[in-house]
Amino acid sequence: MPPNDAGASSARRHQHWEAIYEQKTPTEVSWYQREPSASLKWIEQRGMPPDAAVLDVGGGTSMLVDALLARGYTDTTMLDISAAALDTSRRRLGLLARVKWVPADLLTWQPVATYDLWHDRAVFHLIVTPGDRHRYLQALRAAVLPGAMAILGTFAADGPERCSGLPVARYGPHELAAILGGLEAPQWQAA
Ligand SMILES: C[S@@+](CC[C@H](N)C(=O)[O-])C[C@H]1O[C@@H](n2cnc3c(N)ncnc32)[C@H](O)[C@@H]1O
Repeated sequence: MPPNDAGASSARRHQHWEAIYEQKTPTEVSWYQREPSASLKWIEQRGMPPDAAVLDVGGGTSMLVDALLARGYTDTTMLDISAAALDTSRRRLGLLARVKWVPADLLTWQPVATYDLWHDRAVFHLIVTPGDRHRYLQALRAAVLPGAMAILGTFAADGPERCSGLPVARYGPHELAAILGGLEAPQWQAA
């Protein structure tokens, strides 16, 4: 994609998500969950240590970071394209919460740190073109350490066709594995 098109797409994404988080409270969005139990189950099952570097991509106003802090995790980062979403999360947690906040478009982001856990709930399915999928995987590869874990929660093959008014790509575990299979030493488990 020519650089100007990439910039325009990023600006459109930014505008869409800022408007959502400026108009809706955290409990009004369709993806709200009080307790991110599936993600926590995966993190706990895999024995992720409390000093692990955890990145929640497209974290929005998710309470995952609250749950991780409550469990003693000390190195958490929330990345989202919407500064409004990150502000809401930051205000909820309070200024003393040890969380790194990264307002960025994942598809143009260049990580300056590496992580033990890449967590994505309901972001990857918003990426519907091969070029953007490639950009997502580039960011994932650049951001994770060898042996890191990635959790991708997407709509299933028979799931909804849209999310936040946007078209989605839906996946079964094998399709996800095939797309992500270029990553080093993948180990796949379907939830
Ligand atoms: C359906 S919401 C899910 C939010 C959160 N993961 C949760 O489970 O509550 C999708 C999130 O991804 C963010 N997002 C969408 N596209 C993004 C991008 N290209 N880069 C970073 N964040 C993005 C949105 O701002 C929004 O917070």
